[in-house]
Amino acid sequence: MQTSVIAHRGASADRPENTLTAFELAYSYGAHGIETDVHLTKDRIPVLIHDPTVDRVTQSTGYIKDFTYNELKTLDIGSWYDPEYTDQRLLTLDQFLSWIHDKPLTIHLELKTAKFNYPEIEKIVIEKLKSFNLENRTTISSFNAHSLVTVKQLNPFIKTALLTNHYSQSVHKRVKEYKVDGVHLKFRALTPSVVKTIQKEHYIGVFTVNDSKKINQCYKLNCDIIMTDNVPLALQLREEYEHEQ
Ligand code: G3P
Ligand code: MG
Repeated sequence: MQTSVIAHRGASADRPENTLTAFELAYSYGAHGIETDVHLTKDRIPVLIHDPTVDRVTQSTGYIKDFTYNELKTLDIGSWYDPEYTDQRLLTLDQFLSWIHDKPLTIHLELKTAKFNYPEIEKIVIEKLKSFNLENRTTISSFNAHSLVTVKQLNPFIKTALLTNHYSQSVHKRVKEYKVDGVHLKFRALTPSVVKTIQKEHYIGVFTVNDSKKINQCYKLNCDIIMTDNVPLALQLREEYEHEQ
C-alpha cells in the first residue's frame, strides 16, 4: 500500500486545528505526516494558522499580516474548539519544526499566498527548513503556482505540490510548466483517469477526505497521499484494505 495518511491541520477532528496538541495527537495516532498552513506576520514571522485572519479561532479580530508576532502570541487559539484547549497558542514555523524534527513524519507546508502576497515568504520558509535540516522531508504546497515556482528557483530539491480544486488541460499544462513534484487535488475532482494522467509524471495527493467511502476510494485508486482530519479512521481503513489485497 503506497498511500500515506497525512493529518490535515493535525488531528483536527479531535483537537483545535493547527495547534501543538493537534500535531501531538496526530503523531500518537501514527499519522505518516502533518499538513499545516503558513501565513506571515507583520514582522515576517511564519505562523501556522488556516485563515488570513484570527477571527475564527481567537477572541480577537484582524489580519495576521497586520499584527506582530508579539501581539499574536498570547491569543488563545484553542477554546473556540473546546474550553479544554484554552492553553493553546499560535505556533511559529520555528516552534513546529523544532517539535517535528526528531519525529519520523513528513511535513506538508501549505503557503497561504492566494489572498496576500506575503513578500519573500518562500525564502523565509526555506531558510527555516534549512536551519533544521528538514528540506528533504518537506513538501511545500500552494494554490498559488507563483509561490511554487519561487520555491524551485530558490531550492530545486525541495518538493512542491500544486493545490487544485479541478484537473483540466490547462491545469495539466501548468503543472508541467511549473515543475512541481505533485498535485494535491480536491476529492470531488478525483477520477481514475485523472489519477492515471497525474501519476505519469507526478505524485497525487487528495484533500480532504474524512469519511470511509472517500478514503477507500483513494486507496482503491492508489493515490500517493491523502489529507484527513480523521487519522485513526484512515489508518484503520488502510489496514483493512491491505488485508483484503
Ligand atoms: O493541503 C490541502 C488542504 O489543506 C487545502 O485546503 O483550506 O484546508 O488549507 P485548506
Ligand atoms: Mg491547508
